[in-house]
Amino acid sequence: MFFYFYQKKVGKKVTEENQSIISFKKVDKVYPNGVHGLRDLNIDIKKGEFVIVVGLSGAGKSTMLRAINRLHEISSGEILIDNQSITKAKGKELRLIRRDIGMIFQSFNLVKRSSVLRNVLTGRVAYHPTWKMLLGLFPKEDKERAYQSLQRVNLAEKVYTRADELSGGQQQRVSIARALTQKPKIILADEPVASLDPVTTEKVMDDLKRINQDFGITIVVNLHSVELARQYGTRIIGLRDGSLVFDGPVAEATDETLRAIYGGEILEEKAQGAIV
Ligand SMILES: Nc1ncnc2c1ncn2[C@@H]1O[C@H](COP(=O)(O)OP(=O)(O)OP(=O)(O)O)[C@@H](O)[C@H]1O
Ligand SMILES: [Mg+2]
Repeated sequence: MFFYFYQKKVGKKVTEENQSIISFKKVDKVYPNGVHGLRDLNIDIKKGEFVIVVGLSGAGKSTMLRAINRLHEISSGEILIDNQSITKAKGKELRLIRRDIGMIFQSFNLVKRSSVLRNVLTGRVAYHPTWKMLLGLFPKEDKERAYQSLQRVNLAEKVYTRADELSGGQQQRVSIARALTQKPKIILADEPVASLDPVTTEKVMDDLKRINQDFGITIVVNLHSVELARQYGTRIIGLRDGSLVFDGPVAEATDETLRAIYGGEILEEKAQGAIV
């Protein structure tokens, strides 16, 4: 009897853990000028994964990421978020799906002249009526949540500082706190460390890793650095010319795999020490 219940419980846990949160189904994206951004992408990302997308400049990494929250419309196929079609969603349904997806940009996208707290609070905007937001009327719980998020990224003491008085790394961590305050199921980060030095890069990547582990938030990050991808990712997706050329655990991302993703160039550059 006990064993039966145990099995049931374990069985349920396995199902939850295996649940897909982002599904690309035969996704194509053709830009109006005829450039193929994505070609027949079929990808299934499970809840709690830390996925890193790599590929040469122009491979389609940003297009893929922006397709997930529909910042870019796809041309055909479908994308499901937590089993709901974001491709078909309209109005309120679309807003609710988007609320579950936080986004981090290379250029931070903060309101420079506003305080850190104000910036982080904007993560709550989708939870309230527009008029309240225009008046800046955030409930106390939101302010507490914003403060807690800043603590998570070790910036609590900067709460009243103006965003443009922070270093690049600090600004990126504010944008992570903003995404966290949104209480998302997914965080998308498009080259979050491209403009940061190596030490700050590690801090930002460590924050993302901790958020992934502590809250189980699914994270998809576009990166240029293969070494960082290997250091932080659990799964690597390789794109080349809009197509999926690799999808597997970090351990399988061998030099052979990198050749498939990058062509010959990367190995030559790696041999010369140009790739970090
Ligand atoms: N708005 C657009 N209109 C037309 N073509 C576009 C547009 N945005 C991107 N593209 C093209 O789509 C392809 C994929 O671009 P994307 O920005 O997704 O690449 P990426 O992998 O993110 O590159 P990078 O590493 O340089 O950021 C490229 O050929 C690019 O020129
Ligand atoms: Mg890009």
